Amino acid sequence: MKFDKICILGLGYIGLPTASVFATHGLKVVGVDVNPRVIEILQAGEIHIHEPGLGQAVRQAVESGNLSVASVPEAADAFLIAVPTPFHDDKRADMRAVTSAAEAIVPHLRPGNLVVLESTSPPRTTVDLLVPILERSGLKAGADFHVAYSPERVLPGQILRELIENARVIGGITPQSAQAGRDLYATFVKGEIIQTDATTAEMVKLMENTYRDINIAIANEFSRLADRFGVDIWEAISLANRHPRVKILNPGPGVGGHCISVDPWFLVEAAPDLAKLIRQARQVNDSQPHFVVDLVRETLGDLRGKRIAALGLAFKPDVDDLRESPAAEIVHMLQKEGAAVKAFEPFKPEGLPGIEAAPTLEDALAGADLVLLMVSHTQFRALTPAQLAALTSCRLLVDTVGAWSGPAWAAAGFDLRKLGVRKQI
Ligand SMILES: NC(=O)c1ccc[n+]([C@@H]2O[C@H](COP(=O)([O-])OP(=O)(O)OC[C@H]3O[C@@H](n4cnc5c(N)ncnc54)[C@H](O)[C@@H]3O)[C@@H](O)[C@H]2O)c1
Repeated sequence: MKFDKICILGLGYIGLPTASVFATHGLKVVGVDVNPRVIEILQAGEIHIHEPGLGQAVRQAVESGNLSVASVPEAADAFLIAVPTPFHDDKRADMRAVTSAAEAIVPHLRPGNLVVLESTSPPRTTVDLLVPILERSGLKAGADFHVAYSPERVLPGQILRELIENARVIGGITPQSAQAGRDLYATFVKGEIIQTDATTAEMVKLMENTYRDINIAIANEFSRLADRFGVDIWEAISLANRHPRVKILNPGPGVGGHCISVDPWFLVEAAPDLAKLIRQARQVNDSQPHFVVDLVRETLGDLRGKRIAALGLAFKPDVDDLRESPAAEIVHMLQKEGAAVKAFEPFKPEGLPGIEAAPTLEDALAGADLVLLMVSHTQFRALTPAQLAALTSCRLLVDTVGAWSGPAWAAAGFDLRKLGVRKQI
């Protein structure tokens, strides 16, 4: 199948890079977003998210004349849906954005079109939710138009490279739909393209993130056990990983972001009687912030009136994404116990509502009783004891990410406490 013009609904971390890559590979792309601010920023030649190289890629795409942005879709050969799929407070998938994106496509759907859902979704969303909405057009899915699901597995910070190089799974509601999806993504994908059915493709994405979540959960649980038994978890993991078939991940302050901390719940919701290990792992990771707060309390004593410099609010290193961030949750928990927390997030200096944001590292450190490292940003990892000592008179450190180690810290006068390392038992 040949594609000249496509319409991408949702211009966030996934949709905007995808739109710019299709456009720089010669397709006419209309990027659609319901957020007027996003449209305004993009029309002004700027971008609204932090992703290396993306600003330049979007500018190139716009200058080529191939990328335009709009608030509503228009007729095209293919429609891609890359809208958010968060969860409700009770952890059920919130599919409102997918539903409204699909509804917005209906008036523009023509015979021969392809619709691809990229949003991470519960099993059977493509066949049970998307297809019935699209068929309100009067056309028959699989006969008059194609429908496919293609999960996204890019790493924030590396999105533009990974979009092109990663293997891509395309699940069609029919083999012809999968083939149409392959024809579209082959425009720029250099990695392997593997065709399957839509529900398998949905399940693949959920399994990938659930696998990560469970592996992090076991690392977090190991950190609690190490703490109880007087073991240094970081040393124990590095020794265990000398086993040729063992690869334990690092523990940390919890699991955040809108993928790994959310997607496993889609499986729990879809099959609560079966997804027991998955639920347990989610609960382990969700409770990890409590262990960090316990460690801070053990280190500082009563937290009332204590000043804490929190380093990092992002959900993982070197990104500006604060969604579902355990670091933010920890700050709120410390505040509830009476601590005065100042947070420095280099990738988003404005921070989050309800959290005092420090514009610089120096500002965060000024007057601190304790420095709490929560995100392993390169900038923080690279700090030497001498550099930190020059910036603050505070000598009490809590490292929740295993970034700082070695005798130089004690030599510089620091009392360095680490998650998963009990000093005495
Ligand atoms: N960001 C990642 O690294 C990543 C990786 C894999 C999968 N995903 C999945 O991809 C999907 C999109 O994620 P994201 O990170 O790009 O989200 P995002 O929040 O960065 O962007 C989504 C955009 O969609 C817009 N939107 C909402 N409803 C819309 C509608 N009805 N029509 C048009 N636009 C609409 C929003 O305004 C927003 O700008 C989610 O399902 C997510 O789980 C994300």
